[in-house]
Amino acid sequence: MNSKHLAGFYWVRLVLISSLLAVTNLAFGSPPVLDKCVACHGADGHAHGNMAFPVIAGMPPAHIEEAIYAYKDAARKCRSVPLMCDMAKGLSDEEVVGVAEYYGTQERF
Ligand code: HEC
Repeated sequence: MNSKHLAGFYWVRLVLISSLLAVTNLAFGSPPVLDKCVACHGADGHAHGNMAFPVIAGMPPAHIEEAIYAYKDAARKCRSVPLMCDMAKGLSDEEVVGVAEYYGTQERF
């Protein structure tokens, strides 16, 4: 194999790998609504170590969903930061499932 072929070989692999990553990110990537949670709970669900916000990493998705719906219909009140309740109200059912799945799969440490 001469060097021209070799370069082409690597180029094809690069394209294959990057398109695979793009597809993986589409299928399993973080839901866009996550932007709304990151400021308080962090992308990994550990709340940036800030004790004012609960750690939600690795919580059963069913619990996360239940909590959000309880905030939505005011069955559960927000203790100190009403923003969590306001946040919950704006989420669609699909978004609730998406964030629950996402945070549910984050490692709790
Ligand atoms: C402005 C900060 C803030 C944002 C943004 C926010 N949260 Fe919260 N979240 C809180 C606070 C504070 C609490 C605790 C509420 C209380 O009891 O007063 C909480 C509670 C929760 C709980 C309940 C945890 C438990 O122990 O039962 C879940 C689940 C949750 N948030 C998920 C989310 C998700 C998902 C998003 C994004 C859609 C989000 N939060 C956005 C601050 C926030």
